[in-house]
Amino acid sequence: MNIIKASSYEQMSRHAANIIAAQITLKPTGVIGLATGSTPIGTYDRLVELYQQGDLDFSGLTTVNLDEYCGLAPDHPQSYRYFMEEYLLSKVNVAPENTHVPSGNTDDIKAECRAYDELIKAAGGIDLQLLGIGHNGHIGFNEPADHFPKGTHSVSLKEGTIDANTRFFESRDEVPRTAITMGIKTIMDARKVLLIASGAEKMAIVDNAINGPITPEVPASILQLHPDLTVIICED
Ligand code: GLP
Repeated sequence: MNIIKASSYEQMSRHAANIIAAQITLKPTGVIGLATGSTPIGTYDRLVELYQQGDLDFSGLTTVNLDEYCGLAPDHPQSYRYFMEEYLLSKVNVAPENTHVPSGNTDDIKAECRAYDELIKAAGGIDLQLLGIGHNGHIGFNEPADHFPKGTHSVSLKEGTIDANTRFFESRDEVPRTAITMGIKTIMDARKVLLIASGAEKMAIVDNAINGPITPEVPASILQLHPDLTVIICED
């Protein structure tokens, strides 16, 4: 495990973008796993800058996102598809058909889960997966549980996650109660994992995840077993 302590959110974002940029440069036709949340926004801004400077080419890349709310259409401003378009995908030269976000807006969620796992496999697996972390240690939307879910699946969000994500919606009632997410095995199968976390309030859970016991009660703790994990933290 490689732990990088950044001195600011800006520096954390630059380090993370540099690692992703290096991966894209080394394997332009690879697969990058993307994350949402407020934490990766600076990383995406920097990747867009690198693209605009002519230092990065997304044209051969495939992207797969971790998760999506159930019941939100892709053009809903709080959907993760919308988020990805706004912060990264519409601003770089990735081919739209090679960008994937699981659909939580379907009648057959099980079929969507199966199809998403198959899509990742058919693309050759994930070369680098970017992750944020929830206050309860969730990654993607893998919430604390009594087991580590393997493949893409649907989840009921914990009350604390609904509380934390209410800030993006007009009211708490509008936050979807269920989501679709890559499973822990899907994430662990990524050849590299890059976890970023910023803010003093995230440091206890990050410490617990990387130094505490490996338990599905703290889903991110499984990352201790990943052979190529980089964690970038900034305390403020
Ligand atoms: C959501 C996402 C996670 C993300 C988490 C933390 O729950 N599903 O992928 O890591 O939020 O978000 P933030 O970076 O805003 O703290």
